[in-house]
Amino acid sequence: MRRRQCLAMLAAAVAFGGAQAQSDTVKIGVILPMTGQQASTGRQIDAAIKLWVAQNGNRAGGKKVEIVLKDDGSVPDATRRLAQELVVNDKVVALAGFGITPSAMATAPIATQSKTPMVVMAAATSAITQASPYVVRTSFTLPQAAVALAEWANKNNIKKVVSLVSDYAPGYDAEKYFTDRIVLNGGQVLDKLRTPLRSPDFAPALQKVRDLGPDALYVFLPSGQGAAFMKQFGERGLDKAGIRLIGTGDITDDDQLNDMGDVALGVVNSHHYSAAHDSPTNKKFVQAFEAANKFRPNFMAIGGYDGMRVIYKALDASKGAGGDALLNAMKGQVFESPRGPVLIDAQTRDIVHDMYIRKVEKKDGQLWNVEFDAIKAMKDPGKTK
Ligand code: PHB
Repeated sequence: MRRRQCLAMLAAAVAFGGAQAQSDTVKIGVILPMTGQQASTGRQIDAAIKLWVAQNGNRAGGKKVEIVLKDDGSVPDATRRLAQELVVNDKVVALAGFGITPSAMATAPIATQSKTPMVVMAAATSAITQASPYVVRTSFTLPQAAVALAEWANKNNIKKVVSLVSDYAPGYDAEKYFTDRIVLNGGQVLDKLRTPLRSPDFAPALQKVRDLGPDALYVFLPSGQGAAFMKQFGERGLDKAGIRLIGTGDITDDDQLNDMGDVALGVVNSHHYSAAHDSPTNKKFVQAFEAANKFRPNFMAIGGYDGMRVIYKALDASKGAGGDALLNAMKGQVFESPRGPVLIDAQTRDIVHDMYIRKVEKKDGQLWNVEFDAIKAMKDPGKTK
């Protein structure tokens, strides 16, 4: 579709939104990678959305809620096209999902032009919330995880580090905010390594790390790559070479953690959600999720579950209306999530939550991210105001 034509259609869709508000049904357009390299993210978030609806019903704001799920295979051009179709043809009141940052970035202009709230449930680059005033985030940000872990490293005698990140936007955030904080605290960054997002081979980077011999290797890889990385880390004997592995919790993802084996034991990492989080709210959530799915919820699931909460409560407040009324009702929401206390910052539309420091431990024969410290109510360090 030509750009001008597309803008005209989006404008028409906004005008039509008024009529949509009169109807008995509101549609939520969910775009996720259900196939391809990021498929575990789609599977987790889809399961979490279904659990939310099973527990809370299919009505909000006095209307019937219909979820329209689309698979973008984490190809940003597909995400944009699907978002456009959902706005123009399905007249959705909200867009949601977004497995990777490039997909969220590709969709942000559509949210702006059509005044459609866009709830980012997975992608975690700081700048996404600045790409459109209609973006609200329920996942996390890489700067939150990176700064929290760098502070822990400083207090735990880790002075010389190498960073290894996936070569795209969230990786750049993970790299910058970790290494800057290490240097600020008087530590040393021996090298900054990057691996491709698609089909990465970790061998060359791991060889380099071995040669450099840092106190710790710090790693960010997107959800789904952790198990393959751990395997190679172990096979190359880096765990035996006295190089400590630390990272954002994406590498000890609950979706794969149990299959990683003993090489993951003792890995200290930082994240906003662990299936082992010790609260009654989380115990109930994990139990219900596992009963429905036969797999453990990970941090992607929690972004989806909390995203549904934010949309439902906003629909209640807007009485089922979309646009600015729905967006405004998302801002400033405060609630107890299975992850812990959450605030949607009204100014930044980004999430404020506890950032936990965890260690992988074996309990009853299973591996878990066991939380042992936290930075409370952490805002995104990537925001300047
Ligand atoms: C992202 O692309 O923003 C992203 C994907 C997976 C993660 C974290 C961030 O685990």
